[in-house]
Amino acid sequence: MSAGVTRSISVRTAAKVNLHLGVGAPREDGFHPLSTVYQAIGLYDDVTVRRSPTWNLSLETAEHVNAEAIPLIDNIVHHAARALGERHGRDLVAAVQIDKNIPVAGGLAGGSADAAGALVALDRLFGLQTSDEDLLEIAAGLGSDVPFALMGGTAIGTGRGELVEPVDDPGTWWWVAVTSRDGLSTPEVYRHFDRLFPDADPEPKGIEAVLAALASGEPLLLARSLHNDLQDAALDLRPDLARLIEEGEAAGALRGIISGSGPTVVFLAEDADSARHLGADLLGAGHEIALAAPGPVSGATLVSL
Ligand code: C5P
Repeated sequence: MSAGVTRSISVRTAAKVNLHLGVGAPREDGFHPLSTVYQAIGLYDDVTVRRSPTWNLSLETAEHVNAEAIPLIDNIVHHAARALGERHGRDLVAAVQIDKNIPVAGGLAGGSADAAGALVALDRLFGLQTSDEDLLEIAAGLGSDVPFALMGGTAIGTGRGELVEPVDDPGTWWWVAVTSRDGLSTPEVYRHFDRLFPDADPEPKGIEAVLAALASGEPLLLARSLHNDLQDAALDLRPDLARLIEEGEAAGALRGIISGSGPTVVFLAEDADSARHLGADLLGAGHEIALAAPGPVSGATLVSL
């Protein structure tokens, strides 16, 4: 590389859906034990870093992303840089740009994706050679979904969601994510779950049905086995989403389900064409954001040096 050219590094990082989200009664630390199956889907943010005399974070947002809902001061990317720097005993001063396509506060773990992207990009920029084990541990300290955002693919999540283990998922599944500009707060949805289910079992519901459906490669079987224990709480807070699920299923989706803590609804479609048609129909019916995406896709991946 010639002198005077500032090296930049870009990492692409994906949204997630929960194919199964089993939630148990809250633990002593307030977090809920989870038994989940994550899948990374093809909606991406790009995190680009370059060396800079001062720390700087900037954002470019796609038209469908509500830029006002993204915190610039308390962004999870600042925490990621600080935690990675602390692990290596140094300050990581960089200019970071996030090109955001993943809807904000939607239950698609877009913030977690950005944190994972920043960890991988900064590690490369500063030549830190952090081990995978250390990266996963730092990621877990940043948020329950961040280790999965590093890993991508399809994975089982336990603990509070931070303990991840890859799962064989040979199929390609097609999703349509319908989201709204008004997000739902994850802690609030969990609190509402506690109000609705004060006697919840401490042991979250198991993942066997989803694993069997993944192995079959049959969209209809996967559709039948999708499960989200936070769905009742999210629908109680946002009754309009129940109508959206009915509308998508009437328009040909195999099944619609709340993604994570919502408010995004993800519809499983038969194949790519069905997903595109469903997305177009829902946009035609007045929904602002309907994005077709395949899964599983890779986790945080270097796209340019
Ligand atoms: O780990 P993360 O920062 O993503 O969690 C955000 C909030 O969601 C937590 O503060 C907690 O209120 C709730 N949460 C939970 N149980 C989990 C994961 C998240 O109660 N397993």
